[in-house]
Amino acid sequence: MSKPKVYVTRIIPEPGLSMLKECCDIELHNSKEWPPSREELIQKVKDKDALLCLLTDKIDAEVMDSAPNLRVISTYSVGFDHIDIPEATKRGIYVTHTPGVLTDAVAEFTVGLILAVTRRIVEADKIIRTGQWDKPWNPYFLTGPELKGKTIGLVGLGRIGVATAKRLSSFDVKILYYDVERRWDVESVLNMEYADLDTLLKESDIVSVHVPLTKDTFHLINEERLRKMKKTAYLINTARGPVVDTNALVKALKEGWIAGAALDVFEQEPLPADHPLTKFDNVILAPHIASATIEARQRMAELAARNLIAVLKGEMPPALVNK
Ligand code: DGY
Repeated sequence: MSKPKVYVTRIIPEPGLSMLKECCDIELHNSKEWPPSREELIQKVKDKDALLCLLTDKIDAEVMDSAPNLRVISTYSVGFDHIDIPEATKRGIYVTHTPGVLTDAVAEFTVGLILAVTRRIVEADKIIRTGQWDKPWNPYFLTGPELKGKTIGLVGLGRIGVATAKRLSSFDVKILYYDVERRWDVESVLNMEYADLDTLLKESDIVSVHVPLTKDTFHLINEERLRKMKKTAYLINTARGPVVDTNALVKALKEGWIAGAALDVFEQEPLPADHPLTKFDNVILAPHIASATIEARQRMAELAARNLIAVLKGEMPPALVNK
């Protein structure tokens, strides 16, 4: 019997790739860095039973229409905003993703960004490298707020929000959270308080975004909401760029409505070096690397492969999106 045909849009880490090679006839877009062009993607999926894609591949009706045999779209990511889920569901195509396996990596990175932006670590490094450490120690140089005693507001309390809260609780902070559903189960265990979004924005010293991108969360953090934040507060985003209105954020930073920001995700990725966001010393920028631990990237590959193989075998995949 011939093996199922799979298109893989990037060289993903082991063991995922070997797992796929073992049971499928895979056609691999032979690059670690570059996605296939749209034309190439549409051409390659034509005769495939399964597609393993990344968040850089837009999988919409046009792609699905060109792939009449497609049974599963397995994305190597927890986010699936790049896939038209209703269109897939309509066609009976399973969509799977990689939740859980990158939670710790993203939570660790979020805490790193919070410390880096409040304690001005990137700015400090730049000052030495550019020869600006030209005076002896003094009490006012590069000071920033201490976390202890501050209020941290988590916008979204899914897996990553909870993992971030767990880590932050050791800093003796007060944690507020907002979500569409109240999380009674974790609230008391982690000693967190529920707040509506406006209250959270008004009371938090750090606001960290952990919601998926949907039509309801697009520009959730807009001009009106940024204006509600404290002038001394920081905004952290490791979720998805379009959850924050970039133009409003640039305005907020220029006009001092907030103290700073640390961003791993952007409305435009890659973010050009001359983007207005690069002009602020009180902003830390990272190129969408919150999940970039070696371990997480391997586990993502393994789970993406397991999801895809399960569907092809007629089994329920471990992480199905369109139930
Ligand atoms: C995801 O998985 O959705 C992240 O953005 C990248 O790991």
